[in-house]
Amino acid sequence: MHREDFPMLKSDIIYLDNGATSLKPQCVIAKQVDYYENYSANAHRGDYDISYKVDLEYENVRDLVKEFIGAKRKEEIVFTSGTTDSLNLIVNGFFSNLLEAGDEILITKTEHASNVMPWFRIAGETGAVIKYIPLDDNYFVTMENVKKAITPKTKVISLAEITNVIGDIRPIKEITTYAHERDIFVVVDGAQSIPHLKTNVSDTDIDFLAFSAHKMLGPTGVGVLYAKYELMQNIEPVNLGGGMNESFDSPDKMVLKEIPARLEAGTPNIAGVIGLGEAIRYINKIGMDEISKYEKNLRSYLIEKLVKIPHIDILNLEADSGIVAFNVDGIFSEDVAYYLNKYGICVRAGNHCAKLTKDVVGVTNSVRVSLYFYNTETEIDNLVELLKDKDKILKEMF
Ligand code: ALA
Repeated sequence: MHREDFPMLKSDIIYLDNGATSLKPQCVIAKQVDYYENYSANAHRGDYDISYKVDLEYENVRDLVKEFIGAKRKEEIVFTSGTTDSLNLIVNGFFSNLLEAGDEILITKTEHASNVMPWFRIAGETGAVIKYIPLDDNYFVTMENVKKAITPKTKVISLAEITNVIGDIRPIKEITTYAHERDIFVVVDGAQSIPHLKTNVSDTDIDFLAFSAHKMLGPTGVGVLYAKYELMQNIEPVNLGGGMNESFDSPDKMVLKEIPARLEAGTPNIAGVIGLGEAIRYINKIGMDEISKYEKNLRSYLIEKLVKIPHIDILNLEADSGIVAFNVDGIFSEDVAYYLNKYGICVRAGNHCAKLTKDVVGVTNSVRVSLYFYNTETEIDNLVELLKDKDKILKEMF
């Protein structure tokens, strides 16, 4: 769908690495160029017209994000540099003050590094303990296992809504309901879900959400931290500097601004935020339900073809997102990616920054195809044709 909107698709490539980053439509590119060409002033600092326009455009995006994820107030939205930055801010600005020795942090082994490493460090610093929700035979999270993993010491559950290798969609609302009855916070890594699924934080009632613009047609280097208003007010800024203070006279006399400014120190990624706004407008025009439906069908089409190839082992056959991870028997995943690259096909191979996944799946590396709405059945036919012939892969992989 809508391939004509994407300049990158004018070349011959077949881009199947949308889990890493998405392509950008012309309108998102143009919106950023417009900022740089026509009103390239700083935000929240100037007393002149073009700076005022910057403020309007920038703050408009906060409203757009609020609507897009179903938040209640615009103060619940903070711009960061991406999912990683948002998760680190949640952990270091909020949970570092809350966790005590013996408290339990619940994650899974299929999380991305960004939703593991900040927790590892804070556990080391506070004496809190990392525990893993057991996964079922498909490497999915079930409510039954969530209930088993929760103890009176559980303080927080931090999960991707869709994981970046297994691609399973987690039952976030059920988890939140159960967790909140026990005063447990729920953090959601939305990097792989926000671009593909309708999100409503008021409905799922999650406490914190992190996501990036670049996986949802927007620019790199910009992302969002959502926190419920009362929780956002209690996030300690990790960065101090311009734009987030009212005054500072001495070490014990620093007055900080209210949220969200308090958590956005320094000149923000203005072009990035404005580009994110355009990406949201673009997605809204297509409709998220339409996107999800299209991707679901495309995934089924791909799976139907891959299962017929005897030398292909799919890691996540039963998952329902556009992420399909597999291996070609006896061939290193990066060699497969290198072979596909010769034919202009872009996929990711390796451990995909989810380095604990091997503990449950049993293999360290895989080839990952990750779809978006601009991919087509013809592209999948080309991929499958190249994967069918194992001798050809072996002959051409170097
Ligand atoms: N987190 C990105 C991925 O899964 C980079 O590829």
